[in-house]
Amino acid sequence: MSTKLKLYLGRKVIDCLHKYTKFSLAELQPLIQVGNADETKVAMSLPLNDLERLLGVTNITEVLKIQPDDIIKNIHLVRDRANRRISFEIDKNIFVKDVIENCAFPDLNFSPKNIVVDFSSPNIAKPFHLGHLRSTIIGNFVSNLNSFLRHKVVRLNYLGNWGTQFGFIKVGIEELKYTLEDIQKDPLKLLYKSYVHANKLAEQDPAVHDRAKQEFLKLETGSVNDINDWKVYMDYSKKELINTYNRLGIIFDDYSYESDYCAKNIEDIVETMRVKNIIHKDNDGKEVASINEKKVPVVKSDGSTLYLTRDIAAAIDRFKKYSFDKMYYVVDNSQSDHFYVLKDILYKMDLPWAGRLAHIKFGRIKGMSTRKGTSVFLKDILDECRDIMIKRQVESPSSYQSAYQ
Ligand code: ARG
Repeated sequence: MSTKLKLYLGRKVIDCLHKYTKFSLAELQPLIQVGNADETKVAMSLPLNDLERLLGVTNITEVLKIQPDDIIKNIHLVRDRANRRISFEIDKNIFVKDVIENCAFPDLNFSPKNIVVDFSSPNIAKPFHLGHLRSTIIGNFVSNLNSFLRHKVVRLNYLGNWGTQFGFIKVGIEELKYTLEDIQKDPLKLLYKSYVHANKLAEQDPAVHDRAKQEFLKLETGSVNDINDWKVYMDYSKKELINTYNRLGIIFDDYSYESDYCAKNIEDIVETMRVKNIIHKDNDGKEVASINEKKVPVVKSDGSTLYLTRDIAAAIDRFKKYSFDKMYYVVDNSQSDHFYVLKDILYKMDLPWAGRLAHIKFGRIKGMSTRKGTSVFLKDILDECRDIMIKRQVESPSSYQSAYQ
């Protein structure tokens, strides 16, 4: 137990025994003995001989008449001759809450660190699903904690708006014959339907996959018409996302996009990886890195980038921008290998800050797949919660009154 906590406890015990207490906190604090703990309580004790000496009373039962406060429970005297003591328990839940609210003051004698927290980071043009909600909640918590400790925190939302998935969306839009006006009316739903539709078609006909790849290549190579349409889809989706964050009370300091790190923009970084022999051409034309004897693709054979390539460039860019002391990626544990490889490549590029990256992982939500169309969307979950709350409030006269009067 830390000295800070012991001091805190000492104060609580003194409050409890205050009428009889002649001793100081410094005298009492070393006497507190910590025993067993379970889920709800921690056993503690104070040696009676010392207490009697410090209190100047021999009839310690007088002291025990004082009602314990809500944190200190079950005070009783242990009369066993060899080991006379007052034993008591601490209610863990109340104690933790009390410490957080009253005792956890940040240390002011330190220089604040620059912390970047990459969290939520959903894929644009695909609705925000429950898997992203966990990242949003954990990331927000990590950011709040670091802000409380007076670090300089950048809450960063890195939107996935690049990759073959956009080729699939384009194919789906063409096949379902949606116009831009249709999409404008109901953007997220129609883009999602397009994506699911194209994936279904690709399951029956592999040529659809190649077509989607070609469509994405048009974006990578900067075809103006395609890029303009794609920007419109992106705007619609971002608006929808911001609405959802507002409902949750979460505000980001910065938004960045995977497309910021498309092939055109990161040629120098890819070249550095070649010069440092980190990547080399594979038989089928891809450029790959060898990580623990496994080949990891970094550049596709048609020159387009991958999620990993863009993350390498993004990390370098963020270091230039924020000089971070620590950068957290709050992403489910299915991406553990990805972040391992990312760090390894940055080390190999001789970037001394590579060790400052950390992956905060959490369990995956099973049974949901955007591709198959079985995702559960956050907007629907929030709507359902709202509807249930309203129904309950209306049904219960007292909460109805408190809500509406
Ligand atoms: N957009 C990704 C996904 O939904 C998560 C991105 C996390 N951040 C990152 N820098 N890779 O899976």
